[in-house]
Amino acid sequence: MSKEIKRIAVLTSGGDAPGMNAAIRAVVRNAFNNDLHIYGINRGYEGMIEGSIKRLETSDVGNIIHRGGTILKTARSKRFMTPEGRKIAYENLRDHDIDALIAVGGNGTFTGANKFLQEYPDFKMIGIPGTIDNDLYGTDFSIGFDTAVNTSVEAVDKIRDTADSHNRLFFVEVMGRHSGYIALHTAIAAGAGGVLIPEEDISLDDLVRLLKRSAKRAKLFSIVIVAEGNKMGTVYDIADHVGKQIDLYDDIKVTVIGHLQRGGSPSGFDRVLASILGFASVEALLIGKNSVMVGIRNNNIHYTTFEDAISKKKTFNKELLRMAHILAQ
Ligand code: F6P
Repeated sequence: MSKEIKRIAVLTSGGDAPGMNAAIRAVVRNAFNNDLHIYGINRGYEGMIEGSIKRLETSDVGNIIHRGGTILKTARSKRFMTPEGRKIAYENLRDHDIDALIAVGGNGTFTGANKFLQEYPDFKMIGIPGTIDNDLYGTDFSIGFDTAVNTSVEAVDKIRDTADSHNRLFFVEVMGRHSGYIALHTAIAAGAGGVLIPEEDISLDDLVRLLKRSAKRAKLFSIVIVAEGNKMGTVYDIADHVGKQIDLYDDIKVTVIGHLQRGGSPSGFDRVLASILGFASVEALLIGKNSVMVGIRNNNIHYTTFEDAISKKKTFNKELLRMAHILAQ
């Protein structure tokens, strides 16, 4: 029979994502609701190694649900990748009598969690998907994705005005180191003329053909959304290459939206998602779950082992991509 959980800690790790604060708030409030002591760890796993651990009260998470970033700060910890770093982290948790940890983050966060639990099996950990990339297996959505898409759509709407005024072709790069979710959703929502994502093998010649076809209906400007992780090279190389094969536009420009997508007040969707997952992560610990990510699938809470979350690939929605290509014409 496993030990009763009395003290838990929460941290945010990896790239920040709008809605992380709402998740922290839900974890803290539900921990209080279950008479658990709750600690916050600053700067993710790095803070676990530094011993930057402090007790949280419910009042500490007041007035944060609407704030971007993370009140606990975050980091990509190199030291936690080493057994020595993880040992120090474990000892720091034990010094505070902490029995279990809730970690909000992405693939790197759960890879670290998985390693940590293999070395310290007496400890318990639950993950919450928090990454704007939305590339985690086991959940339909991760915290921050919706806000990031909204930020990109707002930016592309503005670019559309100037692209239209000047008859220009714009290549707009959005984030997504290994995934095209932000790009695909932005392209659909902003009515882009094309989209380049790592999940699809489309050549630049194909793209040129598509743009030429659109131009036939007297379309004098266009916007192509490029995922950061696309296979064709940097957005500047792509613009250069296409520019040499096409003379339909007055000019070609590049905009990189970049880290703007990581900040800002979370959307209503992200606040609700983060609240549901934060709340469910505490319940998961209380019903004896361990080494799992709490996600959402078809509107229901779904548990995925860390092992699966980090090793399996989320199925890309090819139908959505097909639709995006057709509607772009
Ligand atoms: O994983 C989220 C993400 O925003 C990626 O889309 C992007 O490539 C990366 O983080 C950027 O990381 P950093 O903030 O370390 O530059």
